[in-house]
Amino acid sequence: MFKRIGVMTSGGDCAGMNAAVRSVIRTCLYEGVTPFAIYRGYLGILDKNFKKMEARDASGFISRGGTALQTARCPEFKNDDVQERGIANLREAGIEGLVVIGGDGSLTGAHALAQKGFPVIGVPASIDNDIFGTDMSIGVDTAQNIIMQSLDKLKDTASSHDRCFIVEVMGRNCGYLALVSSLATGAEIALIPEMPYDIERIRALLKRRFDEGRTNSLVVVAEGVDSAYNIDKMLKGTIGYDTRITVLGHIQRGGSPTVFDRVLASRMGNEAVTALLAGESDKMVGQIRSKMVLQELETVLKTPRKIETSLLELAEALDKK
Ligand code: ADP
Ligand code: F6P
Repeated sequence: MFKRIGVMTSGGDCAGMNAAVRSVIRTCLYEGVTPFAIYRGYLGILDKNFKKMEARDASGFISRGGTALQTARCPEFKNDDVQERGIANLREAGIEGLVVIGGDGSLTGAHALAQKGFPVIGVPASIDNDIFGTDMSIGVDTAQNIIMQSLDKLKDTASSHDRCFIVEVMGRNCGYLALVSSLATGAEIALIPEMPYDIERIRALLKRRFDEGRTNSLVVVAEGVDSAYNIDKMLKGTIGYDTRITVLGHIQRGGSPTVFDRVLASRMGNEAVTALLAGESDKMVGQIRSKMVLQELETVLKTPRKIETSLLELAEALDKK
């Protein structure tokens, strides 16, 4: 039985991280374990930036965007000796188990600690939805809603001016955000890294829409494909429409989490503590078909996450050709 469990957020922040931290803190207290917050990710382990948490320390966390524990990039944590030093610091503070909330880089760090014998459970949190072993990562749904609302707004102004908007969205090498937000808004084109694109076909489709008198068109570009500026260079002056570019940027990562993200984060944080207390380590909590599941971090990290074929088929079926 653990007496003290640490919780940290690491890598890129996203909405719902605080809800997950709150869930870890409250579950620990419910189970009679003392929770410790580790500030600024792996850097906080090295700096011994630890704080004992009480139930009230998580007040307001459920609805708060970003991460109250803050996050940092800590490249030196990739080194074995630095990881050993981190484990020594955790042990010195009496912390016997750890919940790491973050993206694939953070989960790689978690795996390294677990491989060195320190009990760790990972919780996937990244807007990119590029992590294998869970249908959704924390933060994805909120980001999708932000993108959807932004695209709806851009459509309003595009229609007023007979314009085509080229909108760049985040996602690193994954096209999930671009594809799903396009499906949700009826955007004409989604360019995603998982599918090659034919610029002539795109040009013809947009030109035809302009000639038919359609007042607006939206092209959503995943950042992993190209920049919206480069796509604009290829289309500008050839499609009839006047073009404008919007790069949504970090606005996609902020804001209060959606219902889905709050509940997902609450479930995952709870499951992570339960797993540690059951003697599990080196695993990630995932949600598959609405159920909490544990996956080996080794498998999670070495398996590329693919976009569901059914989503691609849906996009194809609804394509305006
Ligand atoms: P994310 O977790 O969002 O993918 P990063 O890739 O920046 O973000 O990783 C966050 C942190 O995780 C890094 O700053 C580093 O401290 C740690 N990390 C990343 N890769 C590794 C690795 N191979 N081994 C150990 N720690 C790592
Ligand atoms: O991984 C999350 C993410 O927001 C990616 O979509 C994006 O490419 C990257 O982080 C941006 O990183 P930074 O906040 O360091 O600019």
